[in-house]
Amino acid sequence: MCGIFGYIGNKEAVPFILEGLKKLEYRGYDSAGIATLHKGNVFISKCAGKIADLETLLAQKPISGAIGIGHTRWATHGRPSDINSHPHDDCRGKIVVVHNGIIENYLELRRELADKGHKFKSTTDTEVLAHLIEDNMNGSLLQSVSRALSLVRGSYALAVISEHEPEKIIVARQGSPLIVGYGEEETFISSDIPAMLKYTGRTIQLDNGEVGEVVPKKAKFYSLHGKPVAKKIELISWDPESAEKGGYSHFMLKEIHEQPNAIRKTIEGRVEAESHKIHFDELNLSDEEIRKINRVVFTACGTSWHAGLVGEYLFEQYAKIPAEVEYAAEFRYRQPIIDENTLVIAITQSGETADTLGAVWEAKAQNAKVIAICNVVGSSIARDAHGVVYTNAGPEIGVASTKAFTTQLTVIYLLAVLFGKRKGIISDAQAAKLINDLIEVPSKIESILYREKEIEQIAHSMKDATNALYLGRGKGFPIALEGALKLKEVSYIHAEGYPAAEMKHGPIALIDQHMPVVVLALAGSRYEKILGNVEEVKARGGNVIAVATENDVLITEKADKIIYIPQCSEAISPLLAVIPLQLLAYYIAVKRGCHVDQPRNLAKSVTVE
Ligand code: AGP
Repeated sequence: MCGIFGYIGNKEAVPFILEGLKKLEYRGYDSAGIATLHKGNVFISKCAGKIADLETLLAQKPISGAIGIGHTRWATHGRPSDINSHPHDDCRGKIVVVHNGIIENYLELRRELADKGHKFKSTTDTEVLAHLIEDNMNGSLLQSVSRALSLVRGSYALAVISEHEPEKIIVARQGSPLIVGYGEEETFISSDIPAMLKYTGRTIQLDNGEVGEVVPKKAKFYSLHGKPVAKKIELISWDPESAEKGGYSHFMLKEIHEQPNAIRKTIEGRVEAESHKIHFDELNLSDEEIRKINRVVFTACGTSWHAGLVGEYLFEQYAKIPAEVEYAAEFRYRQPIIDENTLVIAITQSGETADTLGAVWEAKAQNAKVIAICNVVGSSIARDAHGVVYTNAGPEIGVASTKAFTTQLTVIYLLAVLFGKRKGIISDAQAAKLINDLIEVPSKIESILYREKEIEQIAHSMKDATNALYLGRGKGFPIALEGALKLKEVSYIHAEGYPAAEMKHGPIALIDQHMPVVVLALAGSRYEKILGNVEEVKARGGNVIAVATENDVLITEKADKIIYIPQCSEAISPLLAVIPLQLLAYYIAVKRGCHVDQPRNLAKSVTVE
């Protein structure tokens, strides 16, 4: 939700900031702006639209300076417009802020400041911060910012520059991520690590309630009360190339193709080659604690919630622990009945999703054990949960989640097997078989990716649809939901995922010759039932696109189009079956001319409730 990038050093700041903002554009892209300090004076350039529009504006009317802060916006308060774009400044144009988050008491603060004579230009919550700092200007800029922030309720990642102290950037964090990176001759600030990876992997993450004073090559951190905070530099080992498109036309396509290797990395180091023993030291759970767990609650949002739904099936099947999956935003506010023998597993790619974080806090308050399955190292959730298991997928930049999902499934699968073993539900031999099945997944995904052209052709036949239905049973049901979500997100075609048997209780009324119905007709215990559902769709003139298992001849008589996945066990079938659905959504979106990596209205990490 909004991206911040800043530069302070001995070179022109604008090119660095523009490049950083382009990498952060996945976080929001309805307006953008940059402010620089040059010879002690502030210069601002901002406009509604994408970073490319800002670039055009800057080409017509350049600004310069070796200190600058930039912003790409996902509007919450105030519609996207030139005036509402960040940076925002105070009455005299001397204090400039960029902000990610929401100031909850902004109306109250705005009224008080207006009564004191402050003049507001925009309708945003953020502008209040610039005036509030101005109103509290006494002592150093850092002290003034800290004083102003102590009056604020809500969430923020904040960067401030000012003519009052034109040789530094002040940063602050409460609830929204902000990272400081040390380059050779300069310092960067950014909302995420990939945006600065090209320049540095030496980073410091701000924690909640911290402010920092950033100058070239160094930064000092304090609590809001002015107490110095010692922080450790973290070395990020991600390859800078991983944050680039690497020859693919979109990040989404690149990330779909990265899945075999991403899954290999997720397994690596966690499964012993010979013995097939599973290690998750980072869980922070002893064998005794695992044995005591009598309930598992997955909590997450969006695609990560779908991973939790697969987890529910896997944990009940292999560990025989009652499991359920909860939307984080619901879980956190409904006073869940959980205790110290409940394991809450929060799943999140970003580790910054506001509702998932809230669910973690609630679960901890109720004494449950909380582990996070997360992709972003050092993210808020990784700090707040009792234990964290990283998915090791590398940076996921495309707004539509792909490799994060399959690596989440990989971790959940391993955890289900581990818990099953510890609880004495599955034998060593059964566990070894399950792990072998998982180890084969990457090469099986590769064989699906070889068939990309066939999927592209099917996408062509679906590109003009206005609605689509996705049906699945058992572990195919969460994949139906995920396939429908992918299609909605990137192509704007209305799509519904349904448990196939539920179709006849309502959605069947929608079926006619214009309705593509994607059916997960996978081999396994529910195969015959799902064939029955295919018949029901065909009898009503529906157009069936089946995802089926190789060598299934029966399906050729029933479905209009078929995408085959390799033969596999039912337990790992979600990891394979989702791949064609990701490709289908991708190619349909491309053929409809949609902006695949930056779908309208969406942001990669939803850091507001
Ligand atoms: C996935 O394609 C979505 N963009 C979205 O549903 C996402 O999965 C959700 O916002 C949760 O994000 P998280 O995994 O970073 O918490």
